[in-house]
Amino acid sequence: MAEPSATAAGDGVDWAALQQQATEAMRLAYAPYSRFPVGVAGLVDDGRVVVGCNVENAAYGVGLCAECGMVSQLHLTGGGRLVAVACVNGEGEALMPCGRCRQLLWENGGPECLLMTPAGVQSMREVLPQAFGAESLRH
Ligand code: THU
Repeated sequence: MAEPSATAAGDGVDWAALQQQATEAMRLAYAPYSRFPVGVAGLVDDGRVVVGCNVENAAYGVGLCAECGMVSQLHLTGGGRLVAVACVNGEGEALMPCGRCRQLLWENGGPECLLMTPAGVQSMREVLPQAFGAESLRH
């Protein structure tokens, strides 16, 4: 379990529970090619939790990251905003989402969404500085 950083201490998120749900999702991953299962769990602003696992493909390039499934479930189950996300590797340890998936998290959680990283809890603003987002389209 990652230790919260000073910026996110006292955020009220049950990180251990979120990490546990991400780990359970990871166990359902379909990753026969990389043998690198990933699970992710996201706390939504209405209190529900959405999860995802990576789903690979024989055509390697079309494999889906765990975050893709989680974001799909977010929308399928009522939408809302992600407020805290935990992504884990096959050991159930904090895993830093890839660049593409940080963009997915930005779209669905914004700069204040918190992320459990190997270096502690950090905000999306910290892990995706100068992000491209909906605002960028208005300039
Ligand atoms: N993976 C994710 O599911 N999420 C990430 O943020 C990083 C990478 C998956 C994709 C692939 O199935 C495996 O991890 C190895 O790259």
